Amino acid sequence: MAFSGHLRWWILGAAMVAMLCTGAGAIDIFMEWHVAFDATAMPLTLDQPVITINGMFPGPLINATTNDFVHVNVYNDLDEPLLFTWNGIQQRLNSWQDGVSGTNCPILPGTNWTYVFQTKDQIGTFFYFPSINFQKAAGGYGAIRVNNRVVISVPFPKPEAEYDLLIGDWYYDSYKFIRSTMRNPLVAYPGVPDTILMNGKGPYGHPLSISHESFNVTKGKIYRFRISNVGNAFSLNFRIQNHSMMIVETEGSYTNQIIVDSLDVHVGQSYSVLVTANQDEADYYMVATPKMFRVHDSSSLVGVGVLHYSNSLTQVGGPLPAGPDPFNWGFTMNQARSIRWNLTAGAARPNPQGTFNVSNVTLAETFVLQNSVEEIEGSARYVVNNVSYYTLNTPLKLADYFLNGSGIYQLNAFPTRSVNRDAACGVSVVSGIHKGWLEIVFKNNLDAMDSWHLDGFGFYVVGFGLGNWDEGARAGYNLHNPVVRSTTQVYPGGWTAVYVFLDNPGMWNLRSQHLMNWYLGEELHIRVHDPDPNPAKEQPPPDNLLLCGIFGESGAPTGSPPPAPAPAPAPWSWW
Ligand SMILES: *[C@@H]1O[C@H](CO)[C@@H](O)[C@H](O)[C@H]1NC(C)=O
Ligand SMILES: *[C@@H]1O[C@H](CO)[C@@H](O)[C@H](O)[C@H]1NC(C)=O
Ligand SMILES: *[C@@H]1O[C@H](CO)[C@@H](O)[C@H](O)[C@H]1NC(C)=O
Ligand SMILES: *[C@@H]1O[C@H](CO)[C@@H](O)[C@H](O)[C@H]1NC(C)=O
Ligand SMILES: *[C@@H]1O[C@H](CO)[C@@H](O)[C@H](O)[C@H]1NC(C)=O
Ligand SMILES: *[C@@H]1O[C@H](CO)[C@@H](O)[C@H](O)[C@H]1NC(C)=O
Ligand SMILES: *[C@@H]1O[C@H](CO)[C@@H](O)[C@H](O)[C@H]1NC(C)=O
Ligand SMILES: *[C@@H]1O[C@H](CO)[C@@H](O)[C@H](O)[C@H]1NC(C)=O
Ligand SMILES: *[C@@H]1O[C@H](CO)[C@@H](O)[C@H](O)[C@H]1NC(C)=O
Repeated sequence: MAFSGHLRWWILGAAMVAMLCTGAGAIDIFMEWHVAFDATAMPLTLDQPVITINGMFPGPLINATTNDFVHVNVYNDLDEPLLFTWNGIQQRLNSWQDGVSGTNCPILPGTNWTYVFQTKDQIGTFFYFPSINFQKAAGGYGAIRVNNRVVISVPFPKPEAEYDLLIGDWYYDSYKFIRSTMRNPLVAYPGVPDTILMNGKGPYGHPLSISHESFNVTKGKIYRFRISNVGNAFSLNFRIQNHSMMIVETEGSYTNQIIVDSLDVHVGQSYSVLVTANQDEADYYMVATPKMFRVHDSSSLVGVGVLHYSNSLTQVGGPLPAGPDPFNWGFTMNQARSIRWNLTAGAARPNPQGTFNVSNVTLAETFVLQNSVEEIEGSARYVVNNVSYYTLNTPLKLADYFLNGSGIYQLNAFPTRSVNRDAACGVSVVSGIHKGWLEIVFKNNLDAMDSWHLDGFGFYVVGFGLGNWDEGARAGYNLHNPVVRSTTQVYPGGWTAVYVFLDNPGMWNLRSQHLMNWYLGEELHIRVHDPDPNPAKEQPPPDNLLLCGIFGESGAPTGSPPPAPAPAPAPWSWW
């Protein structure tokens, strides 16, 4: 006893020293990722390779703390170009590391490239994924945690353990096949996803599953689950048999702590929930089912995992826990509206989050963005205000840096408050007023869920509604404690309003998180320009900047503007 007591004291002492050292400042985290398309970690007994990182699917956890520097050296062992984006990591003053087609040249097959980014002033739950070529449908995603610095208290007791839980829909078809079907006139891939994976594993008990996901808990303890919807198309309702969940965080904001029996997680969103293991020592189902789509318990479209109590001798059994009706608007809207910012909690900084509230802001700009599907040059394309984003092979950020954008894109040609009479492709880049408040109203004209994401910022989600939006809707906004997050859902036939404070200069991607919508053009970029050349205002390009497009692969920019983009859509172009 005495010895173990002494030993424990020594270990605690060592841990304290380590905490004091690392707590004092940000650290550098180095990762080497070998990215392959292979059969090492298949979720199902289908002959279906997946995108793995170091042989893993999902890829490795990035476990950082506020202000750390993360270095990820990516070796592209795929047979096509690759980029990773860090969903929700704001890349402060540094859109060079954002990893989307508008900011970065792709990492070519057989080469490597090192991202270096800082988790500046952030905390929370996020994930990364491959951003081009429809590759996300093949995996390549993984969890990101940004932990609080030790000097800043977290607004709930330290859980016994934290678990990452990536849930998402999955196609039995290969991503390359799905991509190829989108060349066809007027038929974007017609299929719905086939199943729901949990951490890259098939549903418990499903004949195609090689294994299922399971989490160990001890009775009486509290666990933090960091849940992200990494899928392509389905919003998911998540629940655990006989257990409620306390929502505590979403995409970097501490929320008012509310207790729910089930949680809607839309494509691209992340949440932390606390689960208390307060039931009999047994095994319990964890379930994720699609919203806006009806399934039976035995459907392959029900993701099923297991919550396993350490002394349990009882296997899961009985019916799966029932969730809300997937078409129940009342449930879904009420829950969405009840997820609010905790104004008194500190987050990355000691100041309470509420210090940064929007109750008194003056709007500098308003965008009203409507999605739909239109035929353009004989192909089905997703459009925003009747413009379908045309991906150039010269990143906009490079064009901006070397040529002030000239000749590559026409700033503000995109209609931010109206819908063009005719659908067409375009390189949509709009100016955001530096340090201005932007209101964006997303209108969803489709009969499916949508979700929108902006890189570089958080959205203050001030309102949801059904039907049309007009300025009168502002009277119903929640300006008191809107939650701040990077991805917001937009209900079919409805609208979502957000505020954004454009204090982060750069070229920022605004996109549908639904993979097909994005791939087929539901995207634009917001250029936030600070005319002050002081490099402290926006970082210069990194030393390892890749060049491509009109800037070639090896030297300085040629300076010659490219031919105007062809009007025909090219959804099958490599990226
Ligand atoms: C993540 O980092 C935190 C803070 O350094 C540490 O306490 C924790 O054990 C790490 N978790 C994992 C899974 O590496
Ligand atoms: C590629 O990896 C090597 C180490 O193997 C590293 O020295 C080099 O900086 C990497 N290249 C880029 C462009 O990041
Ligand atoms: C969970 O518990 C089971 C047995 O109860 C054990 O076999 C397994 O290794 C545990 N898993 C982890 C991750 O601790
Ligand atoms: C879950 O709770 C119900 C009553 O609400 C009970 O009948 C059932 O046995 C419980 N399931 C488990 C696995 O404990
Ligand atoms: C907000 O956070 C504080 C800690 O700053 C916590 O004590 C309080 O319970 C939280 N409020 C709600 C409504 O969750
Ligand atoms: C919002 O912030 C202002 C100034 O920062 C403060 O005076 C006001 O009380 C805050 N409002 C709320 C609802 O916290
Ligand atoms: C709030 O707005 C009023 C005018 O509407 C202004 O006088 C006041 O300074 C603002 N307060 C803050 C904290 O911005
Ligand atoms: C760069 O572009 C911006 C916006 O298009 C314009 O206001 C500015 O004058 C341009 N600067 C130069 C040096 O051409
Ligand atoms: C968008 O363009 C199509 C033709 O390409 C047209 O039929 C449609 O009415 C336009 N949408 C709106 C809202 O004007």
